[in-house]
Amino acid sequence: MTGDARGWHAGWLPSQAWRAIGTRRVFLPGPSGAGAAVAAEAAGAAGADLVETVAAEIAAAVRTHGGRLDRTGPAGPADLVLALAAAGPGDGVAGWDDLRTEVAGTLGAEGFAITRRAATLVCADAPAGLLHGLFHVLRAGDAAFGAPFGVRRHRPAMRRRMVDHWDNVDVHPVMGQVERGYAGGSLFWTAGAFTADPARIRAYARLLAACGVNAVAVNNVNVHPTEARLLTDRIGEVAAIAGWMRPYGIRVHLSVSFAAPRTVGALHTADPCDPAVRAWWAAAARDVYAAIPDFGGFVVKADSEGQPGPFGYGRDHADGANMLADALAPHGGVVHWRAFVYNHHQDWRDRGTDRAKAAHQHFAPLDGRFRDTVIVQVKHGPVDFQTREPVSPVIAAMPGTRLAVEVQATQEYTGQQRHVCYLGTPWSETLGFGWAGGQTVASVAAAGGGLVAVANTGADAFWTGHPLAQANLYAYGRLAWDPALDPCAVLDEWITLTFGAAAGPDAEPRRTLHAIMDDSWRGYERYTAPLGVGFMVRPGHHYGPDVDGYEYTGWGTYHFADRDGVGVDRTRATGTGFTGQYPQPWSRIYESPDECPDELLLFFHHVPYGHVLRSGTTVIQHIYDSHFAGVEQVERMRERWRALPPGGLLSAALHARVSERLDEQVRSAREWRDQINAYFFRKSGVPDADRRALDGARRPVIPR
Ligand code: GCU
Repeated sequence: MTGDARGWHAGWLPSQAWRAIGTRRVFLPGPSGAGAAVAAEAAGAAGADLVETVAAEIAAAVRTHGGRLDRTGPAGPADLVLALAAAGPGDGVAGWDDLRTEVAGTLGAEGFAITRRAATLVCADAPAGLLHGLFHVLRAGDAAFGAPFGVRRHRPAMRRRMVDHWDNVDVHPVMGQVERGYAGGSLFWTAGAFTADPARIRAYARLLAACGVNAVAVNNVNVHPTEARLLTDRIGEVAAIAGWMRPYGIRVHLSVSFAAPRTVGALHTADPCDPAVRAWWAAAARDVYAAIPDFGGFVVKADSEGQPGPFGYGRDHADGANMLADALAPHGGVVHWRAFVYNHHQDWRDRGTDRAKAAHQHFAPLDGRFRDTVIVQVKHGPVDFQTREPVSPVIAAMPGTRLAVEVQATQEYTGQQRHVCYLGTPWSETLGFGWAGGQTVASVAAAGGGLVAVANTGADAFWTGHPLAQANLYAYGRLAWDPALDPCAVLDEWITLTFGAAAGPDAEPRRTLHAIMDDSWRGYERYTAPLGVGFMVRPGHHYGPDVDGYEYTGWGTYHFADRDGVGVDRTRATGTGFTGQYPQPWSRIYESPDECPDELLLFFHHVPYGHVLRSGTTVIQHIYDSHFAGVEQVERMRERWRALPPGGLLSAALHARVSERLDEQVRSAREWRDQINAYFFRKSGVPDADRRALDGARRPVIPR
């Protein structure tokens, strides 16, 4: 189906991507002597030797491409030497001692240093660093073997770079096998049974490691009855996944139900302050670590959208999270405690309650009360993964707490992997967002708990349904490793690895992919909900337009469009006061309709349709113009793709899959345009300045 014999697409690791390494003479000391001792120690009780993973990768590459791998000593000059600082290759390699002296002890658990002398030298303090060093050389390709360069150190900005699966064990009656999954079934479970294919999971772990991911949570944050048992009698399944991922330096985490002592155990309460509950969790954690010695920890969604939590016992979220942290601490695990807590039975008539304020209201007052091994996991925006949201003010409000920032690779609100929407762009903007005092989202996440992405992968042969959505997973990993990377450069890396020679520097596939993908997130924004207002999607499945779908419900996601204007007044002066949760300068900027960035205007303000944007156009005319422009952009994207013939790594199967998705994107974009434009024309009565038909009809119907 993908043109790949194994039945799944090679992603960004086709064998062609290994040519620069595979054609060369590589020296990797081991597996005897000091190197083996260091590697074994680093592997610890869990027993994976990542140096041997590196060796196996290189061995496969040289087998395919005709190079050579030496393990015992360079049989002659080497082109590439990879070694642990404590287990260097000895005298035979020019420059090694200088490199080791300079960098040993500075690289951390996953970092590496690289320099080019007569050979390319990669040095790491620990085996995971060698693996990341190898993937770095892979990305660099022939450039890693060109002119000499000095020592360059690479260490991940974020210590934990986690992908959270929302996979269910059973098929949920509403949410299916994978909640918000758009890439086929689960890689782990099918209709209640554990169906993970070891070879496929290893291939997945390899793809994840190659973009920098080092942790995976295997199951949905909404933990239903069957899934709750993964913690107890079904822990063997989690252990199996951990075993297949471990050789790639990936630790496994598990979403657990706060009510487990009652529902899985035999207690009558899950009160976090009850000694029996604390003992239950301590014993559960002990058993988990007996099965998985390097288990990462728990992910918890509590008191949110119907999930149980500490509120049920009159306790707060620090009580709940700390209790679980205490259970995990003896074994080195962490708790990822989600801050996505709000009232989903809100009265839509009540203009004073504001869902955007909820996470800050619940969590900011608890700052300083969480244990060090609690990571409060905050969605990047204050509401729910909309196409455009401001940064969550929680991220700036908890200096005494370790925070992780959560993004959504699965495209729930960004086209469900039927639309091209490259998310490296918004994630990079979010990570770079800063406030007074010099902090940024990236610096908070780096100092705290790292970056988390909700997975966009599944059993689909292309992993992500839409083949081009692979770029989102890749970009997530790369930005978590280094948030300062340019997202277009990251996309370029992905194109090079995935499409190889077919995408050479001036080749048409590369130009086409950039033309389609670089601006695709803004394109999606143009034809969907305008100016940051969000949530004009169909309720439930969240695909396609339904302007008033959520307007009179309890979900707290309103736009308040009437005949005069649209948007949510979140100002301190006249609205919900949400702007007051921000530090300066944003508190001031967002408060003022004149200073607020256009793209977020309706998130913060209710304005008349005639309000003139900073761009100089009115709100109503912007809505019309951007919806026409967005559709035209998608039509051009499809034309570009149709003009690109398949060939090489751009297989006919991949080409056809993208074509089919682009057809749907064009259809859907037109539907968005027509519904949004017709809706706002009918509400406002304001005609389009260009006299276009605003309901999609092919007739000039707008009277002046
Ligand atoms: C969104 C999504 C849910 C998910 C929730 C979460 O609301 O629609 O399916 O459970 O986010 O992040 O917990």
